[in-house]
Amino acid sequence: MRVVVGERMGGPEVLAVAEREAPRPGPGEVVVDVAAAGVNYMDIYQREGIGNYRPEPPFVPGAEGAGTVAAVPVPDGMNLQVAAAAILQGMTAHYLCTSTYPVREGDITVVHAAAGGVGLLLTQMVKRRGGVVVGTTSGGPKVELALQAGADHVVGYDRFRDIVDEVSDGAGAHVVYDGVGRDTFDDGLAALRPRGMMVLYGAASGQVPPVDPQRLNSGGSLFLTRPTLVHYVADATELRWRAGEVFDWITKGELDVRIGGTYPLSDAARAQEDLAGRRTTGKLLLLPGL
Ligand SMILES: NC(=O)c1ccc[n+]([C@@H]2O[C@H](COP(=O)([O-])OP(=O)(O)OC[C@H]3O[C@@H](n4cnc5c(N)ncnc54)[C@H](OP(=O)(O)O)[C@@H]3O)[C@@H](O)[C@H]2O)c1
Repeated sequence: MRVVVGERMGGPEVLAVAEREAPRPGPGEVVVDVAAAGVNYMDIYQREGIGNYRPEPPFVPGAEGAGTVAAVPVPDGMNLQVAAAAILQGMTAHYLCTSTYPVREGDITVVHAAAGGVGLLLTQMVKRRGGVVVGTTSGGPKVELALQAGADHVVGYDRFRDIVDEVSDGAGAHVVYDGVGRDTFDDGLAALRPRGMMVLYGAASGQVPPVDPQRLNSGGSLFLTRPTLVHYVADATELRWRAGEVFDWITKGELDVRIGGTYPLSDAARAQEDLAGRRTTGKLLLLPGL
């Protein structure tokens, strides 16, 4: 079995492809012959040993994939690359807008990095719930992609507060979905209406420094949460519900999954560099078959 291994914590150079003995499934487990593996920010946090992500070296990064035997049944006929691209980020977008802050018709939402992997899926899901999406991107072709996903407004990170102000008649956003973190957090908090919710779900630009709870008071009795997927797929029922809805929407053509780039396993480091370097849109996949 070929795996990507990190021999120690560090930059992309610590990653290398190695041979390992194929695992044997224990009770209640399956072995998946992976056809496509998703590249996620979590893999970068693991490699760098950031926050709660501190695997013991040597470690095998990665948390997403699809293959011939799966713990989550993939509907018959679904392309395995699409399944791999949709599962982690699809369930993330799903829990963010259905459970963390359940978007209602007319709610004004901010979706940061709207042309990213989570961003494109979240934008589409907020729209199907009737929300208004103010999306941010760094510009260029990312603007068009976010608009195609259904965003009502797509602007740079320096302008989203003005647009929220405009579309809400000064009231502010109901929710800010922020996977960018350090660079956007303060403006996001300031863009919320009283009792609005800051959903800080990632740190693409770096970790947000400690927050004084009094800021939530002066901002208007705001809510702040830092959710993680694992707590929103707490048991098999919840996991099957979220994965089932995501796959159902894809099968019906109601959710578009954009695969922004595919890489051979030996280019795992380059995939992570491209992701962290803001050079990507949609989802990145490692394909062992390439
Ligand atoms: N909590 C959870 O359950 C969960 C699950 C999955 C993912 N996540 C988080 O979701 C976020 C998005 O993940 P993703 O895989 O979909 O990545 P992504 O959005 O495809 O890529 C990150 C994007 O963030 C934007 N960005 C803004 N400032 C940046 C900076 N200083 N450095 C790098 N990127 C910057 C870039 O878009 P622009 O060029 O348009 O600015 C970049 O393309 C990450 O923070 C990840 O950790 C959280």
